Amino acid sequence: MLKDKIAIVTGGTRGIGYAIVEKYLANHAVVVLCGSRQETADRAVAALKERDPSWRVEGIAPDLGSYESVKAAFDGVRERHGRIDILVNNAGMSSSEPLSEYTPELFRKVMSLNVDAAFYCARAVYDAMAAQKSGCIINTSSMVSRYGQPKGVAYPTSKFAVNGLTLSLARELGPRRISAAADVLQRFIGWCGYNTGVGHLTGALAAELTELR
Ligand SMILES: NC(=O)c1ccc[n+]([C@@H]2O[C@H](COP(=O)([O-])OP(=O)(O)OC[C@H]3O[C@@H](n4cnc5c(N)ncnc54)[C@H](OP(=O)(O)O)[C@@H]3O)[C@@H](O)[C@H]2O)c1
Repeated sequence: MLKDKIAIVTGGTRGIGYAIVEKYLANHAVVVLCGSRQETADRAVAALKERDPSWRVEGIAPDLGSYESVKAAFDGVRERHGRIDILVNNAGMSSSEPLSEYTPELFRKVMSLNVDAAFYCARAVYDAMAAQKSGCIINTSSMVSRYGQPKGVAYPTSKFAVNGLTLSLARELGPRRISAAADVLQRFIGWCGYNTGVGHLTGALAAELTELR
């Protein structure tokens, strides 16, 4: 299923993103992983190549705070590989300061990486996926997107926004055979199948959105 697919994974240098990259490579995808710096991206690529020299992986470091930087980097991926099949919006940051110490700057920083960058990346792959009439955008959400959390207010706020982005992309792009999904630790909040418009959404949400169609 993933064989020869061209996948971009943001935050692919460590943690969950690195595990996703490993899984994709083991399933014969071609992966372009993104780091915050070229150095961390190169280090992750070297570690993966050491594990299996046949894995097709490269590292890039677009500035996720700049749409122009993301677009230029992803256009480069499309030029080198001819297409972009999968985008995993995984780069993210969290914080745990109480509201009394939360600065507007920190709030903006979390929202910028977790939300704005996810939009920039989705927007930047759209032309390729629309031209191909296929594609898959996966956003890493969190359980706190359902329940909030007592400290670190921007993080759950950002993940609520990620869920909204995902559902909206799923509804808009599903008819164009581009699917969008978010994973909140194994519970998909939104999934739009290629042929079904609003496809396989879970439980009550599915019923609600089917009504809206
Ligand atoms: N860990 C959890 O328990 C948990 C639970 C639920 C959801 N999540 C979500 O899962 C995703 C990954 O979490 P994680 O814990 O695996 O993350 P992590 O280990 O902290 O790794 C963060 C990744 O994001 C990249 N990154 C950080 N700041 C960046 C920036 N300004 N620009 C570009 N890239 C940046 C890092 O790249 P560099 O290494 O190059 O800096 C790294 O690859 C996040 O969206 C997070 O919110 C995590």
